[in-house]
Amino acid sequence: MSDIKKIKDEYLAKLNKDQNLESINQIKTELFGKNGIVSNEFKKMGSVPQEERKKFASDLNFIKEELQNKISEKAQEIETKEINLKLENEKVDVTLPERNFKLGKIHPVSQVIDEISSIFSEIGFSVEEGPDVENEYNNFTALNTPDNHPARDMHDTFYLDHKKELLLRTHTSPVQVRTMLKGKPPFKIIAPGRTYRSDSDQTHAPMFHQVEGLHIDKDINMGHLKGCLNYFIKEFFEVDKLKMRFRPSHFPFTEPSAEVDIGYEIKDGKIIIGEGDKWLEILGCGMVHPNVLKNVNVDPSKYQGYAFGIGIDRLGMLKYGINDLRAFFETDYRWLSHFGFDPLDVPSSYRGLSR
Ligand code: DAH
Repeated sequence: MSDIKKIKDEYLAKLNKDQNLESINQIKTELFGKNGIVSNEFKKMGSVPQEERKKFASDLNFIKEELQNKISEKAQEIETKEINLKLENEKVDVTLPERNFKLGKIHPVSQVIDEISSIFSEIGFSVEEGPDVENEYNNFTALNTPDNHPARDMHDTFYLDHKKELLLRTHTSPVQVRTMLKGKPPFKIIAPGRTYRSDSDQTHAPMFHQVEGLHIDKDINMGHLKGCLNYFIKEFFEVDKLKMRFRPSHFPFTEPSAEVDIGYEIKDGKIIIGEGDKWLEILGCGMVHPNVLKNVNVDPSKYQGYAFGIGIDRLGMLKYGINDLRAFFETDYRWLSHFGFDPLDVPSSYRGLSR
């Protein structure tokens, strides 16, 4: 015990000298670490004769406390010193001129996704998400598109392995599968996101965006599908009158299937949606195929409903007069400042400003 008293005096003296936080921590480890001096003294307790043990323990605890108090007092002192020093050195000079800044813009695709999500959420759809890297089963097989089905070729898939088990999703439809596998009907969701196909020209990019829709319940029919899409397109394009037609089509995951066209005309070089005698295809849809429902453990004799897949970029181009899809993804700051949107929470005096 006399040894430890000596050590205590030695360490108290050390602590009284000038120290920094690092050396204080070092001292802490030397004394109280796993193999620290004080820790080792405690380990000796068992070999101290019974009659001396009580005193040994109380002396040791006393020393421990004294050293610990000194350490925290010292650490506190150093911290206060450092803060004061920082405050001294970091005085703010309010007379300096402000720095230049550039205000960011919201990308048209993000803006369109927000608009779409808010329109559908008003009529009871919730938003789901799925990963860009999908497995073959969710992207094709579960969607009634088995191996060797010609629809697989149409998708120009980017596979990520030789076995063709992982891929970049070619559409947002696998989110239907994920949603139904993890829950119980009814389902009423939309799923916006990135999709990929090996394709590139003025209206096709290898990465593009879709929004998937799915509504499954006991008595959902094509009339509901038509009403829902009609409502959505009118809201999105902000038009009262809308010419819309369902054209018979084929998708493996829906029966019957349709593609939807909207009427438009070009007046003074501008595209007018909802009028005129020209037709523009904007989405695919249909009644979910019973095989798809079976694959996700939903009983097709009890539940039915519709699904749709809309090309988001195409809608954005139409609404905001953008004529080359590839510009969306070139991250050209000049293009973004022109076609981008101001965040809603920016004070109006800043809107459109980039200094
Ligand atoms: N996945 C289809 C595509 O990318 C679009 C689509 C069509 C989605 C019909 C659907 C649907 O959910 O029912 O071409």
